[in-house]
Amino acid sequence: MTQKRISLFPFLIGLLALLVVTYQYGESWARSILLYLSQAQWAKNLATRSPLAWRVAGRFIAGETINDAITTAQQLNAKGMHVTLDYLGEHVSKASEAVEARDRILELLEKIHETGIDATVSIKLSQIGMHIDHELMRQNAAALLQCAQKYNNRIRLDMEESSTVDTTLDLYHTLRFQQGFENVGVVIQSYLYRSPEDVQRLIEEGASVRLCKGAYKEPPEVAYPDKADTDAGFVKLTQMMLSEEARQNGVYLGVATHDEKMVQAAVDYVTDQQIPSNAFEFQMLFGIRRDMQEALVDQGYQVRVYVPFGTAWYPYFVRRLAERPANLWFFISNLWRR
Ligand code: FDA
Repeated sequence: MTQKRISLFPFLIGLLALLVVTYQYGESWARSILLYLSQAQWAKNLATRSPLAWRVAGRFIAGETINDAITTAQQLNAKGMHVTLDYLGEHVSKASEAVEARDRILELLEKIHETGIDATVSIKLSQIGMHIDHELMRQNAAALLQCAQKYNNRIRLDMEESSTVDTTLDLYHTLRFQQGFENVGVVIQSYLYRSPEDVQRLIEEGASVRLCKGAYKEPPEVAYPDKADTDAGFVKLTQMMLSEEARQNGVYLGVATHDEKMVQAAVDYVTDQQIPSNAFEFQMLFGIRRDMQEALVDQGYQVRVYVPFGTAWYPYFVRRLAERPANLWFFISNLWRR
């Protein structure tokens, strides 16, 4: 890392304040603050200039370069895991940056093909032009899918804030049904009230879907404020997309969670319904619950690890802290290590 070392002091004060908030007011307060910080430019500037922050972020991120990502993917493949690679970046505001991101991802697709690793690619539409021009975004996405198709590879459109769900699903439909890309997949978030309806349509269309709980700060008008409802929704949507009807239509489900209860609910359902283990996959993030990733592979299930890489790691990293504010202890303890 070439960033300048900055003082440890403001970090420590900020982190300790967050820990106090966590223990005084509960995790949901700390989560809200962290989700705010994940979007705050001043916090991003502070953190990304610090080698200390990178040292902790490195637990969740494969590295800065395509070669780092390929090496990590090779290590995971050797353990029997599939991979999806994510070139970090989001909320791009200049067309030149969106085109630059597209070119890096094209390079990534070439490198995956060249090295023969078992890896698909995940992209964020806000990285390739969603907030600049929808036509630019569509062209960039089509160029990526074209390249992936040439190499028999697949691309999944990550899901971002609730305000972008319609744009994302509309683009998915355009790419798949108007442009004929069968190698495109989407993501559904179980915290959104609208998701059962979206899933019903995706089942009728035989889509490739990653189901996750949802990682953004959403108002109670659009998303369940209570985790219990998000979890119940997750189980219900898992069963909908693993149903006989869904599988016959061609639905392929990625059950994306580190929650043992969600994983067990999926295992119970597929065991009960005698659904073969190649009809779906579990998906987890790089650096989180490696023990469970390995245990599932040992039990004969397919596991795909989402591996992010690149220099734009700040918002991704802070969302990971927000999911588990206890990670702040890990952050602080690492600051003391040499
Ligand atoms: P939950 O948050 O309830 O955590 C359950 C347990 O998992 C915790 O008790 C802890 O043990 C462990 N855990 C979870 N998060 C952790 C963390 N950060 N650090 C350490 N341990 C942790 N979201 C989104 O909005 N759009 C998207 O496109 C995606 N894509 C995506 C891909 C993949 C492969 C995964 C696994 C997740 C996503 N997500 C996502 C993120 C998702 O919405 C969600 O925020 C996280 O997965 C955390 O939720 P869990 O299901 O793990 O459960």
